[in-house]
Amino acid sequence: NKGSYEHYMQKEIYEQPESLTTTMRGRLIRGGSCKAKSVLLGGLKDHLKTIRRSRRIVFIGCGTSYNAALASRPFLEELSGNIFQLLTGLPVTMEIASDLLDRRGPIYREDTAVFVSQSGETADTLRALEYALENRALCVGITNTVGSAIARNTHCGVHINAGCEIGVASTKAYTSQIVVMAMLALAIGDDTISSRTRRDAIIDGLYDLPNKVREVLKLDQEMKDLAKLLIAEQSLLVFGRGYNYATALEGALKVKEVSLMHSEGILAGEMKHGPLALVDENLPIVVIATHDVCFSKQQSVIQQLHARKGRLIVICSQGDSALVCTGGSCRVVEVPQVEDCLQPVINIIPLQLLAYHLTVLRGHNVDQPRNLAKSVTTE
Ligand code: UD1
Ligand code: F6R
Repeated sequence: NKGSYEHYMQKEIYEQPESLTTTMRGRLIRGGSCKAKSVLLGGLKDHLKTIRRSRRIVFIGCGTSYNAALASRPFLEELSGNIFQLLTGLPVTMEIASDLLDRRGPIYREDTAVFVSQSGETADTLRALEYALENRALCVGITNTVGSAIARNTHCGVHINAGCEIGVASTKAYTSQIVVMAMLALAIGDDTISSRTRRDAIIDGLYDLPNKVREVLKLDQEMKDLAKLLIAEQSLLVFGRGYNYATALEGALKVKEVSLMHSEGILAGEMKHGPLALVDENLPIVVIATHDVCFSKQQSVIQQLHARKGRLIVICSQGDSALVCTGGSCRVVEVPQVEDCLQPVINIIPLQLLAYHLTVLRGHNVDQPRNLAKSVTTE
């Protein structure tokens, strides 16, 4: 039931304050006067010790689910420090399910393999799970579908509880997956004096995230106006780095799969190694430059794009317009600032809205893009 919405994708984008609330329900613990704030993932509590002792975490998924895992890698590396690792973070590697299978890549018994899948039925991810089980890794699922093949066949896992997702383009599942992986990182990592402030800030940030999502959804009209400007373009580049490298990949995936406009997510650090050749006064480029440890590097990327007369749309933190738009003209989209590692949840939303409006304006099918299926059950 679409209720008052025209399309499922629109409904699911708008549902995110509620879907994130259900994802976190019962899993965040405020802590009392002398007790620390913490997280409780019922599905993992008996396996945490094994995960902490493992040699690495390897994420496996496809499409948007892979991107969600990529968004989570930096904070998992940061927060997963525990006594078994002498308090340094666990190594985290990334595998696209089909590529892992093509290579029969190394998966070891000492690995924790985390399978991320909204449907829990994606054939490539499921085959990769069988392969990891054969190699005797600990297999953890992060799925949205109770009773799905991946939920059933993993040793343990977490349901993201985002509610049924109908639009072929994944939106609310993506943000809930990131939030689950943030809780996973907090659960794996030890609560030490040195990490306490950071952990508390992330937990407070999680509590407040639905409100911040409500705020960023107010950009709807602004993104519709932007879509009107871009309606006839052939291509759109999206530059990101650090916590928001995944946002660039995921934003571009949304644009291409529903609006049928070519779009490419680019790691900003790779700009000079090729993509810079594409830049001219015609090609629209989205640059994600919200406030985090990479901010000054992104400022210098923006300056170099300006020097090539790039047509820029910059996503930045509220109040940062003047800092990102020096030395050239650009369109700025200001988003609310949250704890840096949770910022990908906020930053993807204007791009989801842009993809949605571009599709409607270009007259394509939003909920059933041509050639695509919600659940890819063949390899
Ligand atoms: C569970 C209940 C929830 C209840 C809560 C109360 C289910 C599905 N969930 O939630 O209704 O409110 O306890 O404490 O009954 N699992 C996998 N692979 C996956 C996903 C999950 O093996 O990909 C396993 C988990 O290890 C766990 C079970 O499925 O054993 C349920 O997972 P989850 O729903 O995340 O657990 P809780 O949040 O504790
Ligand atoms: C993109 C999209 C696909 C899926 C991919 C994996 O919007 O929906 O890229 O993310 O097919 O699907 P799941 O998560 O069901 O394994």
